[in-house]
Amino acid sequence: MLSPLLLAAARSDRIRGVVTTVPLTRGVVDRFVAGESLDDAIAVVRELSGAGLRTSLDHLGEDTTDRDQADATRDAYLELLAALREQGLAEGSEASVKLSALGQRLPGDLALDNARAICAAAGRAGMTVTLDMEDHTTVDSTLDTLGKLRADFPWVGVAVQAMLRRSEGDLRDLAHEGSRVRLVKGAYAEPGSVAFQGKPEIDRAYVRGLRILMEGAGYPMIGSHDPRVIEIALALAARTSRSPGSYEFQMLYGIRAAEQRRLAEAHRMRVYVPYGADWYGYFMRRLAERPANLVFFLRSFVSR
Ligand code: FDA
Repeated sequence: MLSPLLLAAARSDRIRGVVTTVPLTRGVVDRFVAGESLDDAIAVVRELSGAGLRTSLDHLGEDTTDRDQADATRDAYLELLAALREQGLAEGSEASVKLSALGQRLPGDLALDNARAICAAAGRAGMTVTLDMEDHTTVDSTLDTLGKLRADFPWVGVAVQAMLRRSEGDLRDLAHEGSRVRLVKGAYAEPGSVAFQGKPEIDRAYVRGLRILMEGAGYPMIGSHDPRVIEIALALAARTSRSPGSYEFQMLYGIRAAEQRRLAEAHRMRVYVPYGADWYGYFMRRLAERPANLVFFLRSFVSR
């Protein structure tokens, strides 16, 4: 019941205005976000890489319809990549990019051009880029952009949401040699016409997708905190004789941190690290995923 409300709130400018102007205790946002500045992000990357964890950096922002804002997001990524390179942290790091923050909703090729600039800089730093997947109306455009980017940067990856009915077909198309695919359950409110509804059905779809990727020739990136998913992924890796370096686990910053470290002892483990001032949409989706997080959030008002 709460999740659809929170996901609707994630898209509401009015509620954004209220939530982002009330004085929250910093801890409530910091649990999921590395901080607002580039230095905050770099400090988290340094700490995680010291513990043997890889990272994927997300400069927070989405859904822009402003050309200058889209260019500013591109520039923030360029600054990030330069900083990681200068500080010797590029190895083991990648950038996660939301095309809607780079101008996907604007006419023309703005998002593609901005993504190209980011990929060129990532390539120079020896890093990879993965395109996040946003709501279902963006999937065709994101996969189209992926295809164009891959012509020059074959290591560009993409997230696929198991909850979408179309995704099994997309995964079959993407499970080829050299293809990097992050499988996630899906974090957006989607109608029943395009998406499975309810956890059991989404979980089953995830396992079907996982099987396609693990049995395929690409590089699966298992984006989930679900203990059952991890168990099944390990069983599939054994069954398909995958070597440890031929797939990786991914989790979000601040979620199951101890499990992240435990998995990193024997497997490739990457932490998705969001940073920046525009944390609202990301933060609300994390609240929607787990009602207990909402209690934690509400407590921050009374504990002030
Ligand atoms: P599930 O929701 O079933 O949770 C399993 C367990 O994980 C829970 O019981 C709890 O212990 C823990 N958990 C999960 N979410 C939590 C939370 N918010 N707070 C605290 N504990 C939590 N989505 C998308 O639509 N597009 C994208 O590009 C991405 N990218 C992405 C990258 C990475 C690295 C990850 C891990 C996830 C994404 N997602 C995403 C989000 C994804 O779609 C999904 O919403 C979350 O991962 C939650 O689903 P789980 O698979 O973790 O399972």
